[in-house]
Amino acid sequence: MCMELSMYKVVVEVFAVCAVLPSILVSAHVCTPSKLSDKAFDQCGQTGFAMKCNGRRLDNIPSAYPIPSPPLSGPACVLDLSDNNISVVENKTFTEAKHINSTEISYLYLNKNHLNCLKSEAFVGLSNLKYLNLSHNNLLWKDSFAPEVFAPLINLENINLKCNTFDTFDGLGQELMLIKRLEGLFITPSNYTNRYSFGESFLNISLKYLYLSSTPECDCNLKEIDNNSFRNLSHIERLYVKDCHIENVTEEAFKPLNETIKVLDISGNSNLTFKGMNKVLKGLINSPTLKELNVNRIHVPYNIGIEITPDDLQSLNTLHNLEKLFMDLNKIEVFNVDTLYPKVMFPPSLTLLTLAGNRLTFGKYVDYLFMARNIKTLDISRQFLGYDPFRFRKHNTLPHISSETPSAKVCDAKNKPVHVRKESVVDINEGYIWDFALQKMLISNDEIKNMTRGDWAALFANFQNAFDVNCTCNVSVARQLICLPEHLSHIQWSRSYLYGAIPPVLICGAKHVKFLDLSYNLLSPWTGPVFGLHRLKKLDLSENYCTNISKVFFFGFQNLEALNLTGNMLEETFHPNNADAGVMFGNQKKMKNLTLSAINVSNLHQDLLNSMVKLERLDLSYNHIHKWNLNLKSYCFHHLDITSNRLSSLPKDLMAYLDQMAESKCIKTKRINVTVYMSQNPLECSCEQLPFWQWIVTSTVNVHPRAIDSCMLNGKVKQITTDDEVHKLVKLLENDICIDRTWRTWAIAGGSLLIGVIVTITLGTATYKNRWKIRYVMYSRGRRYRHEGFEHMFSHDAMISYSKGRASFIKNLLVPSLEQRHQLDFWIADRNSQAGVSVAENITHAICTSRKVVLLVDNEYLSDSWCDYDLNMALVESVETKRNMIIVVLMEQIQMNTLPVPFLRLLKTEGSLEYPDQQQDIETFLTNLAEEIKS
Ligand SMILES: *[C@@H]1O[C@H](CO)[C@@H](O)[C@H](O)[C@H]1NC(C)=O
Ligand SMILES: *[C@@H]1O[C@H](CO)[C@@H](O)[C@H](O)[C@H]1NC(C)=O
Ligand SMILES: *[C@@H]1O[C@H](CO)[C@@H](O)[C@H](O)[C@H]1NC(C)=O
Ligand SMILES: *[C@@H]1O[C@H](CO)[C@@H](O)[C@H](O)[C@H]1NC(C)=O
Ligand SMILES: *[C@@H]1O[C@H](CO)[C@@H](O)[C@H](O)[C@H]1NC(C)=O
Ligand SMILES: *[C@@H]1O[C@H](CO)[C@@H](O)[C@H](O)[C@H]1NC(C)=O
Repeated sequence: MCMELSMYKVVVEVFAVCAVLPSILVSAHVCTPSKLSDKAFDQCGQTGFAMKCNGRRLDNIPSAYPIPSPPLSGPACVLDLSDNNISVVENKTFTEAKHINSTEISYLYLNKNHLNCLKSEAFVGLSNLKYLNLSHNNLLWKDSFAPEVFAPLINLENINLKCNTFDTFDGLGQELMLIKRLEGLFITPSNYTNRYSFGESFLNISLKYLYLSSTPECDCNLKEIDNNSFRNLSHIERLYVKDCHIENVTEEAFKPLNETIKVLDISGNSNLTFKGMNKVLKGLINSPTLKELNVNRIHVPYNIGIEITPDDLQSLNTLHNLEKLFMDLNKIEVFNVDTLYPKVMFPPSLTLLTLAGNRLTFGKYVDYLFMARNIKTLDISRQFLGYDPFRFRKHNTLPHISSETPSAKVCDAKNKPVHVRKESVVDINEGYIWDFALQKMLISNDEIKNMTRGDWAALFANFQNAFDVNCTCNVSVARQLICLPEHLSHIQWSRSYLYGAIPPVLICGAKHVKFLDLSYNLLSPWTGPVFGLHRLKKLDLSENYCTNISKVFFFGFQNLEALNLTGNMLEETFHPNNADAGVMFGNQKKMKNLTLSAINVSNLHQDLLNSMVKLERLDLSYNHIHKWNLNLKSYCFHHLDITSNRLSSLPKDLMAYLDQMAESKCIKTKRINVTVYMSQNPLECSCEQLPFWQWIVTSTVNVHPRAIDSCMLNGKVKQITTDDEVHKLVKLLENDICIDRTWRTWAIAGGSLLIGVIVTITLGTATYKNRWKIRYVMYSRGRRYRHEGFEHMFSHDAMISYSKGRASFIKNLLVPSLEQRHQLDFWIADRNSQAGVSVAENITHAICTSRKVVLLVDNEYLSDSWCDYDLNMALVESVETKRNMIIVVLMEQIQMNTLPVPFLRLLKTEGSLEYPDQQQDIETFLTNLAEEIKS
C-alpha cells in the first residue's frame, strides 16, 4: 500500500515536470550567461560574455534569453547551442529572439545536434559572426541547405561542417562564395566511392585553411586526388588531409597550391608510401612557400622495414624553404647512402627532422649523417627494434671470422691473437679513441710518457682543460668515428631499447649539441669518457637501469647544467665505499639542476657534489636515504627535494647551510625562497629532534608546509600539515614533553642515592604504577624508526612470547608450520635477539617492529619475570598506539584466580585461542592462529 502510494507520487511528479517542459524550453531560463574563457575573451576584444545553452536537450533554438547580470555585461559574443536535439534552424531565429542582439554574436556553436534543415533565412541577422560550428549533425548536402542560406554571414571567417554527409562537393562553391570573408573550411568528404573536387566557384573564395582530416568520430574519404581536386584553390596556406585513405594521387594534383601552401599534412595515409609522397610533392617542386611537411605513418603497419631511396626524396629535395619534416612511424630501417652522399637530399633549409618510432638500424648511411649539416633538432626516439646505428660501427676494422673455422687452425698459435682480438673489440676501440683524442688535444707523446694507454683518470688529472676535444667531420673521419651534423643542437633518442655499455667515444662535429635525451634505454654501464659533447648543457640519462658509472664518464661533459639520472640503480656507484664517487663529478662546475630521484641509494659519498659550486636544485626524492652526509658547496642552492626517504629530521650542518643560502647574495638577488620538500619521511617529533622543529618554525627556509605530513610522537602519528600545527608541536615539545622526559629519566635513575630517597618517597607510587609505560618510553625512544623506514616499520608479522619450556614446541612445530606454510615472519627471542643488547631493549624492539604479539601462556609463563615483561610491554604498546596487536594462546588449563589482573582484563577484551588437547585438531588451530596474525 505504502509502496503504491509513493510510486504514484513519483509518477505524478514526473508528469508535472514533463508538462512544464515545453514552456521552459522557450522561456528564458534554459540558458545561462557565463564568463568567457581567457582565450575567447581576447578573441571577443576583451568584452562580452558567453550565452550557454549547451547540453539542455533543447528541441528548438530558444526564442528568448536571460539578461546577464553583473559582473557579466557587454555583447553576447559566444552563443553555445551545441549538444542538444535541435533539428531545424528556422527563418529569422536569431533576429527574432528576445534579449539577444544577433549582430553581437561572433561565435555560434550548433555542433552535436540533429540538424537536417537550414531554412533560407536561418542566419539572418548574424552579420558579425566569425565562426560557425555545424559539425556532427545530420546535414546532407545539398538537401539540407536552402539556397543562399549563408548569404547573411558577411563577416564569417571559419565554418565547420565536419561529420555531416557530403557525397560530393559539387555546388558547394556557389554557396560558400556568398561568404565573402571565408578563410577556413572544415569539412569531411564522407563517401568512399566518390571523387571530390572543389569546383570553379572556389576561385571566388580566398580559402586559406582547409581541414579535411579524419576525426575520431568520422572518416575522411579521399581515395583519389586528381588534377581537378584542388584546381580552384589558389590561396591555400594550410592543407590537412590526414588519415584520408588516399590511394592515388596524380603528379600535378597539388600544383595549384605550389606558390601558397605553407603547411601540408598527408600523414596516416598508409597506402601512400614514400613513392606516393614523392608524387604529392611533384606538384610542389620548387615550392617557394612550403615550410612544414607531415608524412607520419604513410606505410602499412605490420610490414617489412623500408629503405629510403634517392627516388623517394627527389621532389622533397627541391623544397628550398622546407624547415620542418616529420617522418615518424614509417618503419624506416636505413637510408640509402645516395640520399646523403655525395649530396644530401634533404633541403638545406631543413632544421627539424623527426624520425621517431621507426626501426633505424645500423647501415653505411650512418657514416654520412653529418652531411645533413643544417639540421638543428633531430628526434629519433622510440626505435622499437633497438639496433643502435652507432654501435657495431667497426665494420671495416673487424676481422670477419667464420664460426666454422677448421679445428686445426683454432689451435694454430698464429691464429690465436686474432681470436683474442675479436673478443676485445672494446680494447681496440678504446686504444683507438685514446690515440685519436690525444692527437686532437695536441698533447705530445712526451707529455704522456708515464701514462698507461687508456688511463683516462690520469689524463684528466693532468690536462683537465684539454677535455674539450674539437673534431671536425669529413668523410674519412666519419668512417672511423661518430660524426654528427654540424649545426645539430637538440637530440632526442629515448625509448629505443639501446642496450649495452657506453664505451669511450669521440663524437665529432657535435660542437653545437646542447641537449641530449637518452632516457628509457638500457644503457649500462657507462664507461666513457665521452668526448666531443663538451658544449652539452642538458643530459637526460634517466630510466636506463644503469648500475655502474665509471670515474671518468662525466669528465668530458664540463658544461653540463642539467643532468637527470632518475630511475637508475646507483646504490653502489655513489656509495661512500666507492672512492670514485668523490671524483666522478669533478668536472661539473656548472651544474645547476641535478636529478637523482629513485636511484635506489641509501647513503651517498660525502664528496659527491663537491665540485658543483653552482648547484641550484637537487632532487633526491624516492630513495632510502637514512643518514645525510652529503656536502653541499654551492653558493646559490635553493631547492632540495628529499620526498620519500628515511630521514627522521635534518642534520644540523644542513640546516645551517640552508640558512646561509637563504641569506646569500645570489638567492637574494634572485628573489627566490630556499625550499625543502620532505614529505613521506619518518619524521620524529621527539625531544632529540626539537632543534629541527624549532628551526622549521624560525628559519626563513621554506620547509614546504604541506610537505611534512606527519611525524611520530612517542609512537603516535601526529598530523602536521599546516604551519599552525608545527607551531603547536614545538610548543608541546618545549613546554611539556621534553620537560617530562627529564622527569622520567630521573624517576628511572632513582637508584642515585641522594635524590633517590627523596624521589622515591614523593614519586614512588606514581612511578610504580607507571613503570611499564616508563620503561617502554625509555627503550623505544631512539629505537623506533631509527633503523627502519616508516613503511618498513613492521619487519615481522609477529613476535612470539613464550616460556623456556616451550622452546622445542616453537622450533619443531610452530615455526615450520606457520613460517613456511603460511609465509609468516616471526620474531623469536632465542633466534632473533641481537647479541650485546639488553633483553629489555630486544623485547621492546621486537614489539615495535612486529605487527602482532602472540603470547603462549602456561603456568611457567606466568611465573617467568621476562614473560611478565613481554606481556606488559605489549599491553603498553597496544594502548599507546591503539593497535589491536595481542593474541593470547592458552597452552594449558590455568587457574583463573592465579592470573594477574591486567591479564584477566586482556582476556576479557581480546578473547583467546586455546591449544587443543587432541592431535587431530592441531592443524585447525594453526590455521586459525595464522589467520589471527594476518588479520
Ligand atoms: C566544433 O566542432 C568540432 C568538430 O570538428 C569540435 O571538435 C569543436 O570542439 C567545436 N568547436 C567549438 C568551439 O565548440
Ligand atoms: C555515395 O554517393 C552515391 C551518389 O553519389 C550514393 O548513391 C551512395 O549511396 C553513397 N554511398 C554512401 C555509402 O553513402
Ligand atoms: C612552383 O613555383 C615555383 C616558383 O614560382 C616554380 O619555379 C615551380 O616551377 C613551380 N612548381 C611547379 C610544379 O609548377
Ligand atoms: C627526469 O626524468 C624522469 C624520467 O624520465 C622524468 O619523469 C622527470 O620529469 C625528469 N626530471 C627533470 C627535472 O628533467
Ligand atoms: C664498475 O665497473 C668497473 C669495471 O667493470 C669495476 O671495476 C668497478 O668496481 C665497478 N664499480 C661498482 C661500484 O660496481
Ligand atoms: C617566499 O616565501 C614567502 C613566505 O613563505 C612567501 O610569502 C613568498 O610568496 C615566497 N616567494 C616565492 C617567490 O615563492
